[in-house]
Amino acid sequence: MKALILAGGAGTRLRPITHTRAKQLVPVANKPILFYGLEAIADAAIKEVGIIIGETGSEVRQAVGDGSAWGVSVTYIPQEAPLVLAHCVLIAGEFLRDDDFVMYLGDNLLEQNLREFVDGFEADRRSSSTSTPGPEGVAGPTAQILLAQVPDPHMFGVAELDPDGRVVRLFEKPADPPSDLALVGVYLFDARIHEAVRAISPSGRGELEITDAIQWLIDSGYRVRSEILEGWWIDTGKLTPLLEANRLILETLDRCIEGEVDGGSQLDGRVVIEPGAVIERSRVRGPAIIGAGTKVTDSYIGPFSAVGRRCVIERSEIEHSVILDDSRVLGAGRIEDSLLGDHVEVTRSDRRPRATRLMLGDHSHVDLA
Ligand code: TTP
Repeated sequence: MKALILAGGAGTRLRPITHTRAKQLVPVANKPILFYGLEAIADAAIKEVGIIIGETGSEVRQAVGDGSAWGVSVTYIPQEAPLVLAHCVLIAGEFLRDDDFVMYLGDNLLEQNLREFVDGFEADRRSSSTSTPGPEGVAGPTAQILLAQVPDPHMFGVAELDPDGRVVRLFEKPADPPSDLALVGVYLFDARIHEAVRAISPSGRGELEITDAIQWLIDSGYRVRSEILEGWWIDTGKLTPLLEANRLILETLDRCIEGEVDGGSQLDGRVVIEPGAVIERSRVRGPAIIGAGTKVTDSYIGPFSAVGRRCVIERSEIEHSVILDDSRVLGAGRIEDSLLGDHVEVTRSDRRPRATRLMLGDHSHVDLA
């Protein structure tokens, strides 16, 4: 079993952050999203990992290296332009060869272990070897999709199942969804998927969706298995779900105070203060994390906040927000539900009447509440 992580893409829904960085490297709870996926893959005992990279490839290579930090071996597969997911399978053919693989969308986060889904697929394949064969004598499932119940299925790829959990049909963003089961960004395939991808995109340019490739497998008589997720799943490609992922991961952290906290400060609950961070005359209410080398003075850091490394926070309140590295928030009042990139400055002078002076990059978003 190999893994194929998709870490290219355009990331348009997370601009302007993605103008300058890979969205898969945006941290939640001060750790890049992609690292959670790599941990899940390593935990599932998968050793060979292919990573699809796009424009931000050098940044991903630098962050992940050869994969030895996770005990895996990484092969980078450059994609000349973000097209569709099926195109990623097409260009990874040489790396994947005829092996089974997990296809993992690099911006997705799952609460549940990947290992149980991989084991379920493999066990079904082994035990099915005597059941009714599909075309060309193939028995057992040829693919497995993960599904999650969602309140708004018309926004997702949606599956229709038979009573045995076998996938009958897939629909991309259907106006009239046949179920509330959305496709999660983790798929398992055997080598038949290559045939499917080639069959749906004869020009080799990959203009069709991965759901079309899976539908091709079903229509060709192969069995596509499904599993329904019990834990949470988040596609972090937009601001609100990213903040939600940050909240959920922060809730799992253990309190750990390694930085300096003066006598005038108060830390409540699940708080992580990384080494070299300094907290002066401030209150930090967990779950929250303050990165190494960051200085927080006369401020309040509220629940579900992750402040990166080497930041300066003075006379400000921050809640339910993610702040990346080297940013400065000085006298800014209250900042909530926000995502600040690297080297961002938010300052406010005390003079009145107040004006707002901005220098914002393309696709910035400012909500003056
Ligand atoms: P998406 O989030 O569906 O696409 P995107 O990254 O282009 O984002 P947006 O819609 O905001 O512009 O992609 C899911 C994951 O797959 C993500 O980690 C990026 C990756 N991906 C690739 O590596 N190559 C591709 O061609 C596509 C479409 C996605």
